[in-house]
Amino acid sequence: MIEETFVMIKPDGVRRKLIGEIIKRLEQKLMTIVDIKMEHLEQDKAEKLYEMHKGKDFFDMLVDYTISGPVVLVKIQGEEAVMNCRIVIGETYPEKRKAGSIRGDFSPYLTENIVHAASSKQDAKRELELFF
Ligand code: CMP
Repeated sequence: MIEETFVMIKPDGVRRKLIGEIIKRLEQKLMTIVDIKMEHLEQDKAEKLYEMHKGKDFFDMLVDYTISGPVVLVKIQGEEAVMNCRIVIGETYPEKRKAGSIRGDFSPYLTENIVHAASSKQDAKRELELFF
């Protein structure tokens, strides 16, 4: 089923000049970019994006990293887009990442992991409403 999801190229992805590479891989999977913009997030927006992690020991570090430079916010449409974008970006935990995924190919780190994609249909709706 065609659906929409939210992807964010994080500050390290932008700094490392991986915007084109990330968009290429998503389009290769037949995902359609329906809206895209670059923003340097304010602290409250980053805290809202990651509100499900509030109270965890890595929350402040995660927010500081997310506001450390510009990010690219992307609205995507495609077949099972939530699931397929997660496959393209790769796993959260470094030991589970497969070569061929964006994180598997470009990041050995847990926090600085290049790109975010909404993890469920509910999160996708909430995150798209936050940024678009
Ligand atoms: P992301 O998939 O964007 O969603 C939450 C982010 O929190 C995750 O990527 C990582 O960047 C970060 N994260 C998740 N778990 C941890 C952890 N245990 N320690 C530090 N950062 C984490």
